[in-house]
Amino acid sequence: MSWVESIPLPALRVDAAGVVVEGNRLAQKLFDRPLAERLGRRVDAATDAPLPPPIATIPLADGALLLYSDASLVERLQQQVYHLSRLASAGRLVAVVVHEINNALAGIVGYAQFLLAQPLAPEARRDLARIHEEALRTARVAQNLLRFSRSGRGERRPARMDELLARCAELKRRDFALRSIKLELDLAAGLPTLEADEALLSQVFINLLTNAQQGISSVKERGHVVVRARTTRRRLVVDVIDDGPGIPEPLRERIFDPFFTSRSDGSGTGLGLTLCREILHDHGGEIRVARRRAPGACMRVSLPIVAHASAPAEPQEPQPPAARIEGCRVVVVEDEPSLREVITRTFSGHGNHVITFEHGEDALSYLAGEQVDVVVSDIHRPGLDGMQLYEQLARTRPALLRRFIFVTGDALGEETAAFLRRSRAQVLRKPLELDQLVRAAHAIVQRASEQGELFKSAPASGG
Ligand SMILES: Nc1ncnc2c1ncn2[C@@H]1O[C@H](COP(=O)(O)OP(=O)(O)OP(=O)(O)O)[C@@H](O)[C@H]1O
Ligand SMILES: [Mg+2]
Repeated sequence: MSWVESIPLPALRVDAAGVVVEGNRLAQKLFDRPLAERLGRRVDAATDAPLPPPIATIPLADGALLLYSDASLVERLQQQVYHLSRLASAGRLVAVVVHEINNALAGIVGYAQFLLAQPLAPEARRDLARIHEEALRTARVAQNLLRFSRSGRGERRPARMDELLARCAELKRRDFALRSIKLELDLAAGLPTLEADEALLSQVFINLLTNAQQGISSVKERGHVVVRARTTRRRLVVDVIDDGPGIPEPLRERIFDPFFTSRSDGSGTGLGLTLCREILHDHGGEIRVARRRAPGACMRVSLPIVAHASAPAEPQEPQPPAARIEGCRVVVVEDEPSLREVITRTFSGHGNHVITFEHGEDALSYLAGEQVDVVVSDIHRPGLDGMQLYEQLARTRPALLRRFIFVTGDALGEETAAFLRRSRAQVLRKPLELDQLVRAAHAIVQRASEQGELFKSAPASGG
């Protein structure tokens, strides 16, 4: 096959006299008669269907290469752009939906925790514990979805690779199960923590898992995929291995080309692997098809292990039960009724006085004139949101800012993350672990009392 064939536009090679020597398959579209009939004739020879002017003429040692525009290519590009912009809006939609799901889950988890703290028959306790666990698991899935829907290009944080791979696998597990594909994680101990854009890097492995699944499903009813990770001296190597049709030798490089896809049903954009390669290059890594004797494909990702400045967080020691706050005035601003009630009940009793608000505006006018010990607020809600509430109070009641605990169901978007870095508030994720909430409130009250700022206006009630 001539090199002219690999040019992605209609192309004709002519000799020094302007006689057509060869053309690629795409060039056939320029003629209504077989290309072969044009060979050996001058390119500007008068015919029934004259050629359009070339969009570029590239001089060669023995003639020139003429490139022509390809209407169908432009159309295809338009379709790809349309598809990509749809993906981007799907990402935004995911964020909205996950926000809703998280609010609902926060309620479920909260009520389950209340009930679990009460005396229960063993069977009821077991069932309830399962509800609690399943709700937490659903929350993790939702959180993962949100991570993947965002591509925070440029944002690098230490990412534990074992956790990242496990999360990707968890996200695909159901999809695989539905297609009777066994998904196996084979992770060596002590995988590194890398400075990475977690959302993007996760996208790489999700894409590879999706390709493996689609490959298998295109040829058989069941299959097996292994994600195998190990470290060499300087690199992390992750293999995604499947027992599908494999990738024929001549395609091993081409599959990384933009828009190269073998999915004839129009389901693929052919951008998956192109994106993977881009993302990995951005991280100093690479991806290629590894050779293997067994049938199927093995996609090999390798990433440099670079020592990073901030050490990964150590796994948390189990903490003792949280100390309660007593006789405090707590303001709760939350638009989700079930979550509002869960938070309220968490603090009620012990002489605490809990004041709740659905709307930020009402909370603002209350807080403008009242002393309070702790403010628990969500971040995103209609009307005056948590960030605006905080910023308005920064002007009028700066001392209150240290009393804030933010509760968020969002895997912090860029804007929110920047706000929280600036703010001095504590941040808790939904669904809430009520113990954490109590602990955060206790820390605020304790610090205030150490600094002689304790307010505690609520009358210590008898019960
Ligand atoms: N594990 C695999 N087994 C067999 N073929 C594969 C595998 N991974 C990739 N390929 C081939 O590489 C092509 C390009 O993959 P890529 O992920 O870039 O695009 P796609 O999967 O076709 O489309 P998209 O990712 O946009 O849905 C696929 O169409 C397929 O032919
Ligand atoms: Mg793909």
